[in-house]
Amino acid sequence: MELDGTIALITGSTSGIGRATAELMAAAGARVIITGRDLERGKAAARAISGTGADARFIAADLTDPESLRGLAGDAGEVDILVNNAAFLPTGLTTVQDMKSFDIALATNIRAPYFLTAALVPAMIAKGRGSIVNIGTMGARIGMPGVSAYSATKSALEALTRTWAAEFGPAGVRVNAVAPGPTRTEMVLASIGEETADRMDAGGPLDRLAAPADIAEVIVFLASDRARHINGTTIAVDGGRTAVYRNQSGNQLSSRST
Ligand SMILES: NC(=O)c1ccc[n+]([C@@H]2O[C@H](COP(=O)([O-])OP(=O)(O)OC[C@H]3O[C@@H](n4cnc5c(N)ncnc54)[C@H](OP(=O)(O)O)[C@@H]3O)[C@@H](O)[C@H]2O)c1
Repeated sequence: MELDGTIALITGSTSGIGRATAELMAAAGARVIITGRDLERGKAAARAISGTGADARFIAADLTDPESLRGLAGDAGEVDILVNNAAFLPTGLTTVQDMKSFDIALATNIRAPYFLTAALVPAMIAKGRGSIVNIGTMGARIGMPGVSAYSATKSALEALTRTWAAEFGPAGVRVNAVAPGPTRTEMVLASIGEETADRMDAGGPLDRLAAPADIAEVIVFLASDRARHINGTTIAVDGGRTAVYRNQSGNQLSSRST
């Protein structure tokens, strides 16, 4: 299998896109390290993957806590694949954004991937191979009201993707990012609710909301040798939402209406 012999650490893999990524990577032969704060669902995710005959273990960590972050890097040991996926999404217009949530977003979405990468990449460099995939968002590409702090952190992560591609690429470590559009996960349902999510099903050029596995497939591809010549790029996995203009009532001239 294509990820045989590799160890993959996926942050935020107790649910959503992270968990789907861990499942696909395990199915492709990687030994996966699940991480998140929630002990119960972390253990359940590792158990479910181990139950398929794959190798999975759970390390509990709170990425906003520098001590916990150091513990995670130490317990994980050498990894071949790092997916910086965990994130915090504060919502609210800029004029009402509270500073506490802003700081949690900075700590979770930038500081944690930055220092986790700094801790784990030296072993990849020493081996002369490795792959890092950062998870961004379409909100880093287009202005979306109510997610200013979140989108800013994700733009920073895209910038880090390019800088790290320059810093680590010559040593054989590729760094790329995936920018998902709306995906049916806890994070989205908690912020917009089921009803809006259902409406969004028909809101994009593909007329469907992404499933976590739709995003995970691209993450696995970027982590694998199939993407061996891709470095420093961000792939939009948003069903075309950032590429296609739609007026308020949707595209009136589409192949559906002709
Ligand atoms: N869903 C979307 O529509 C969408 C769109 C664009 C981008 N994205 C991006 O995709 C990624 C995954 O999102 P998702 O929708 O799959 O989210 P999700 O289902 O809410 O999962 C978030 C994961 O992050 C972990 N996490 C959050 N804060 C943490 C912390 N302080 N320390 C450790 N772990 C933490 C959570 O684990 P615990 O709760 O166990 O700690 C959970 O496993 C994120 O980077 C998000 O920005 C999502």
